[in-house]
This record gives sequence, structure tokens and C-alpha cells, in this order.
Amino acid sequence: MISARGLKREFSDGDGGSLRVLDGVDLDVKQGELVAVMGRSGSGKSTLLHVLGGLDTAYAGDVTVAGTSLKGLGDHELARFRNSTVGFVFQSFHLVPGLNALDNVALPAFFGAQGGDAKGALERVGLGAKAGRQPSQLSGGERQRVAIARALFARPKVLLCDEPTGNLDAATGGEIIELFKSLNAEGLTVLAVTHEERVSAVAGRVLKLENGKLT
Ligand SMILES: Nc1ncnc2c1ncn2[C@@H]1O[C@H](COP(=O)(O)OP(=O)(O)O)[C@@H](O)[C@H]1O
Ligand SMILES: [Mg+2]
Repeated sequence: MISARGLKREFSDGDGGSLRVLDGVDLDVKQGELVAVMGRSGSGKSTLLHVLGGLDTAYAGDVTVAGTSLKGLGDHELARFRNSTVGFVFQSFHLVPGLNALDNVALPAFFGAQGGDAKGALERVGLGAKAGRQPSQLSGGERQRVAIARALFARPKVLLCDEPTGNLDAATGGEIIELFKSLNAEGLTVLAVTHEERVSAVAGRVLKLENGKLT
């Protein structure tokens, strides 16, 4: 489902030098897997996820996701890829204030995602009854559920999760992890990057990002 070969990504260190964050990352994730990538803060986990999800194109190497090689895609095609193939879940939810839960879930439709079912996605995460609530009227765990429903909206092939429990207490984070587990049991491929052991505890496979390499 995901295949990455020789991924390299450098950033300027602001001092005329460069910081090589990814230094030849190889990764294979099969359809239906739940994989955790662990690594210290600053080890490049978010950078890796951004490259795999087509949010960052300034890398060297090759990435193929669900049969699509990202290398040759233009902006328009990349946007379509992000809208149809991958779902993103972030640590800080990124809900839009002023839009209720249902409208937040349906937001990808405004960016061109097609065929989504906002109500169904919200029900799938257990929040069908709170469709009319504003983000400010939801708990942290409920906000993350809304964000996950939004990620599921366009029925992605892969869920890419960046520290998905980082802003949640242990019990609430545990519920979110259970949700990923059950989505995975239904066949969804999940890749989560995290520095939290409790996420990796449910993963089928745990990889470590260290010194720009994945082991
Ligand atoms: N846009 C950027 N410009 C410069 N440096 C960056 C940028 N994004 C990330 N970095 C640097 O790359 C390294 C890895 O960052 P990141 O991928 O966010 O790590 P993690 O998610 O594992 O905490 C850090 O040292 C960070 O400062
Ligand atoms: Mg990060």
C-alpha cells in the first residue's frame, strides 16, 4: 500500500548549512497493516508523514501509495491524491471553529473530495448524536473523533496519523487507539507516527526512526 525507497529530505539550518532529516528511508506497508513509527521528538516523524501524504514534495527518492507514484504528480494531481487516497489525523485536530461537527467532517468536499458521507463517518466514530456541536462544545477526545471522521470522509485507502493521542489524556487516548484498531480490523491501512508507547502497543509492526533512517 505504501512503498518508499531512499527517501531523503533536508532543511536549511538557517546558518548556511543543512539538516538532513531523512537520510535514505525505505518503508513498505502492506494493505491492511497497522504500523507505528516511533522516534524521538525532532527525529523526522512529521517530515516523513508529510512526504508520504503528498504534503511535502521537496524530497529525493521514490514514494508509491496505493499504486500512485507521487514523484511525477503536478499540484492538481497531488491535491486529488490527498483528497481521495489518504486521510490525515493530526495531534491538534485542526477543526475549523464556527463549523459544527458535521460540517467539519464534510470539509474535504469543499476541496474537491467526492462521494463522501459525512453523516456516516460521524456515526462510525460514535458521534452521530453530536453532529450539530461546535468544536468548542466537544471534549478533546470528541474533537479527535471528528477529525478522524473527516479523515475517513472520502473513504481513503490509508490513514496517516501524526501523534494522534499527543493532546489527549491516557484514557481518552486509549479510546482513540481502540478506534484505530477497529478501523484497521475493517481493512483500513493505518500508519501512525508517535513517540508514545501506547500507540505502538496495538500496532502489528513497530519501526524506529533514528538518525534519518528507519529500522
Ligand atoms: N520547514 C522546516 N524548516 C526547517 N527545519 C525543519 C522544518 N520542518 C522540520 N524541520 C526540522 O526537522 C527536524 C525533524 O522535524 P519533525 O519531522 O517535525 O520531527 P518530529 O515530528 O519527529 O518531532 C527537526 O529538527 C525540525 O526542526
Ligand atoms: Mg512531529
